[in-house]
Amino acid sequence: MGVDVGTAEDVRIYVLADDYAGYNSPFWAQHGVSFLIDAQSGGIRRRILFDTASYAEPILFNMKLLKLDPGEIDAVLLSHSHFDHTGGLLGIMREIKREVPVFAHPDIFKVSFAMDPEFVYAGIPPLRGGTREKIEELGGIWILSRDPIRIMPGIFTLGEVPVEQRADFEKETSIGLYKLEDGRVTKDDVSDEIGLAINTRKGLVVVGGCSHPGIVSMVRRAREISGVERVHAVVGGFHLIDADDERIQKTVEALKGMGVKKVYAGHCTGLKAEALFASEFGENFEKLHAGKVLDL
Ligand SMILES: [Fe+2]
Ligand SMILES: [Fe+2]
Repeated sequence: MGVDVGTAEDVRIYVLADDYAGYNSPFWAQHGVSFLIDAQSGGIRRRILFDTASYAEPILFNMKLLKLDPGEIDAVLLSHSHFDHTGGLLGIMREIKREVPVFAHPDIFKVSFAMDPEFVYAGIPPLRGGTREKIEELGGIWILSRDPIRIMPGIFTLGEVPVEQRADFEKETSIGLYKLEDGRVTKDDVSDEIGLAINTRKGLVVVGGCSHPGIVSMVRRAREISGVERVHAVVGGFHLIDADDERIQKTVEALKGMGVKKVYAGHCTGLKAEALFASEFGENFEKLHAGKVLDL
């Protein structure tokens, strides 16, 4: 990356959207992910919005309950193009009301879709997520990079996690999606997913949207970029909802093997994987839900 990653302090992650509302919770759930990451380093404080779930309204509702002001968001990151991560972008940008960088992969605008059982467009929904131009008109500055970028001391994007560099059991990303490339239909391995890593005093915290490149490979990537070995936590959707038992087992083993201390999983992780995380990590596993606040 060319710059030292540095360290972030007072790191707090607010779960603004998850598929689960939590038990006896006033928060609104929806399909997708949205986190607000609030961190400081030296005199710098940044609030980074990681993904915008399917719709803006439940995010704004939850922010109000958490007493968070969208006008204080300093930067937006879109982990990948799927509608359950980008659908709220337009509505949130309207509330941010100022110029902010929007970090994403250069393929974020690709046309991807499912065909089974019917055609369903999977990318940024133009009326809710907006278009490149609409987001620019509202002050969004697209920062489209395959390479990692440091947002503030201790916080950096992972960039693309190339298939060749992934763990063997994470090389295959078969989630039944296709994309258009020069007018041809090809399999979509969702290599447009970028993640975020936070270097805290307790070690790295790796945040994924759906973690389509594999959460293990994303942790490896964060270590490689930062040179920091110690991993405190993984946070996000880990897309193991349709994975076979072997892959789930290998994922849990690999995370334990890398010394990951805490697992915060939600969204597309799936009940089977969550059950194994719960039995292997005990109290160090926590299920995400809308409105949950993580102090890291
Ligand atoms: Fe997702
Ligand atoms: Fe996804």
